[in-house]
Amino acid sequence: MLLDGRRRRAAAAASVEDLRRIARRRTPRAVFDYVDGGAEREVSLRRSREAFDRVEFRPSVLRDVSAIDISTTVLGASTRPPLVLGPTGFTRMLHHEGEIAVGRAARRARLPYALSTMGTTSPEDLAATAPGADHWFQLYLWRDRDRTHELINRARAAGFGTLVLTVDTPVPGARLRDVRNGMTIPPTLTLRTFLDGAVRPLVVVQHADHTPAGVRGVVLVRRHRGRARQPLDPSATVRDVRWLRETWPGKLIVKGLASVEDALSVVNAGAVAVVLSNHGGRQLDRAPTPSSSCPPW
Ligand SMILES: Cc1cc2nc3c(=O)[nH]c(=O)nc-3n(C[C@H](O)[C@H](O)[C@H](O)COP(=O)(O)O)c2cc1C
Repeated sequence: MLLDGRRRRAAAAASVEDLRRIARRRTPRAVFDYVDGGAEREVSLRRSREAFDRVEFRPSVLRDVSAIDISTTVLGASTRPPLVLGPTGFTRMLHHEGEIAVGRAARRARLPYALSTMGTTSPEDLAATAPGADHWFQLYLWRDRDRTHELINRARAAGFGTLVLTVDTPVPGARLRDVRNGMTIPPTLTLRTFLDGAVRPLVVVQHADHTPAGVRGVVLVRRHRGRARQPLDPSATVRDVRWLRETWPGKLIVKGLASVEDALSVVNAGAVAVVLSNHGGRQLDRAPTPSSSCPPW
């Protein structure tokens, strides 16, 4: 019954904006804001939306469009439409199937999907539910390189052929909505989140274990005199890209760049591709908007 209701609501959504409205209504506020929010004053997030709205398509008319083929190749694999599903952490906070559902949808649409290190599904489980799919694994560099090594070995053994190293998170983004909502990573059940979950049905109470499956055993955020200490490595440099190039036998992509200089430096270190990104405005507020840095469409 509950599932039918969910399906009905999702089927009635005509756009991503409709889905966002449903999520806002149905999801505990802290969870919705974790997904919807950006860093600090959300200047980058706002500018990204505006830049996207400014994109224009100039139609060329009276062309035969009865058969349309928008397929392309991404790193040698054919993709149609030309999209890749990006990594998102803690996806099971929003829906109990989380990354598994995304992986299934990606396989159906024959799109690559990058499973996050902060994913709430393990690389092994994702691979098992969508065998043969072109899954990528998104990596954060831990201070503990042995753990990093262990994690990419697991991804490799599970059949992941592409590694996406995210480099725009030397320190956690200052997400003020999360601070105001008392949101912690990984989420913990406090009286406040419990009450919020009780008035908005779903998730937090139902699926309380949100420890990223890729990183079980790592203390993600340790509180020290009220300040969070994180295990991601702020001392990482381009030398680590070289190390990964030697360690990882598959394709290596570096995600989270904003300059030609940085792109050249990681390509020289062995990356086959880069992702121009400001992490959706979730990391460094006022970082440049990727779509306004692109050449005209
Ligand atoms: C809820 C949420 C969680 C995210 N988690 C991750 C993550 O774990 N790793 C990562 O590299 N990027 C993460 N991102 C950033 C996205 O992969 C992507 O970079 C962002 O949505 C903006 O898209 P763009 O890079 O195409 O501009 C997350 C984004 C959102 C909205």
